[in-house]
Amino acid sequence: MTLRTAVHLHPAHRVGPVRRRTFGSFVEHMARCVYTGIYEPGHRLADADGLRTDVLALTRELGVSSVRYPGGNFVSGYRWEDGVGPLEDRPRRPDLAWHSTEPNTFGLDQFMTWAERAGVEPMYAVNLGTRGAQEALDVLEYANAAVGTELADHRAANGHAAPYDIRMWCLGNEMDGPWQIGHRPAEEYGRLAARTARAMRRQDPDLELVACGSSHSAMPTFGSWEQAVLEAGYDAIDMLSAHVYYREEDGDSASYLASAEDMDAYIDAVVATSDHVRTLGGHRKRIMISFDEWNVSGSGGGDPGKEPTGDDWPEAPRFAEVTYTAQDAVVVGSLLISLLRHTDRVASASQAQLVNVLGPIRTEPGGRAWRQSIFHPFALTSAHARGQVLTAAIDSPTVETAKHGPSTALDAVATWGEGPGDLTVFAVNRAPDEHLELSVPLEAFGTADGAGRFEVVDAVLLHEEDPYAVNTADDPDRVVPRPLTGVQLEAATLATALPPISWAMIRLRARS
Ligand code: AHR
Repeated sequence: MTLRTAVHLHPAHRVGPVRRRTFGSFVEHMARCVYTGIYEPGHRLADADGLRTDVLALTRELGVSSVRYPGGNFVSGYRWEDGVGPLEDRPRRPDLAWHSTEPNTFGLDQFMTWAERAGVEPMYAVNLGTRGAQEALDVLEYANAAVGTELADHRAANGHAAPYDIRMWCLGNEMDGPWQIGHRPAEEYGRLAARTARAMRRQDPDLELVACGSSHSAMPTFGSWEQAVLEAGYDAIDMLSAHVYYREEDGDSASYLASAEDMDAYIDAVVATSDHVRTLGGHRKRIMISFDEWNVSGSGGGDPGKEPTGDDWPEAPRFAEVTYTAQDAVVVGSLLISLLRHTDRVASASQAQLVNVLGPIRTEPGGRAWRQSIFHPFALTSAHARGQVLTAAIDSPTVETAKHGPSTALDAVATWGEGPGDLTVFAVNRAPDEHLELSVPLEAFGTADGAGRFEVVDAVLLHEEDPYAVNTADDPDRVVPRPLTGVQLEAATLATALPPISWAMIRLRARS
């Protein structure tokens, strides 16, 4: 069956500017994200610092804007000083978050070198699990202070005289979660985060500080956690974090494809809670969201490996290596639509993670690196979402889903105006079985001559007849975007068709 759908846009109806930080990622000392992911001395493509140049090139191609580091759950037991200084002096430690051995042969200075070569902005998380304000101040001094104090001089002695000037700092990780080392009640964490933030601002009042929100919206404390943390330190912080991972469960493709309904509701709830505390406290500023862990954890492609247990404490174990399907890529494209739609309140986002661990990039130790299916919608959205995000009024029949209730078959967002007359539409068909006819009326963009004003400069589709098709090292281009054929511009309307379970990007440009 074919369903008729439309997106209504107006160039004056804007949500806000596209933020480059929406296209962030995440590198954690977990499994093979760092070791044999971004860092592998001895690999034939490693540079003199042991950084894999094949992964650096793919990171740049992915269009990553910022990268959160060093965790994740890992950070809640981490001593940052273990990872700086001469390699031979660095201690090996048990990593209690991931039941592994941390060799500490990669640390802050190497991460900053990697970030510079990858062309990304760093976002650094401090340990508020086993540590507190003093250690946060220490790592801040090491990273950002001008030479002339002990820790800044230590950085200089390690070869980095110029301060790193890291702007975004996370005040711990997922402190609402009972699994987190140092997990504590919201009021207690809120006080710790607030006093750490206030102390850090004594060194630099303009830091951008992120307090932990909930680990996901199904947490029993969701809402009350955010309220308590904000009541403890509203003025001290700039952003609250949000985290979520979606996956297909029990073959329920319809619910999985509609995951952005849940992300929309999650963001709206955090915004509502933040604004409630703002009203109660008589505050002026608005708290923004740092969606600093989001991703899909799969439709069940491949064997992801198992987290070590018992007496086994390996270095860089292979687990969480999800092999992504075409359907997973469609959901990632759809989640990016949700993040863009909330550009007025989502100030930063990080897909978790970059390499191997739930990564759009996969590597073999000592071997190849390739793009997983989810690489493509991220790279294309990052490359072409520019200018202003427009409000998109969606006209679409709904699909009934077990988890999210009715969900529109079509979802879409549009960006407008980086260059004169650049209009880019990102659209997703979330129906497992139905084809969509999509129309986008364009009269509002110009006038009487309507469609004649635009030309299609690019139209791509991510869709596979087998939604469970995957990319592998031997077949790395099995799932890739292909040309979207049959795009028409007639009678001041853009028209096209979208097959079931598909993501598309259509770029228009005004004729000069
Ligand atoms: O990204 C993997 C893990 O998921 C992170 O360490 C943690 O913060 C989250 O629960």
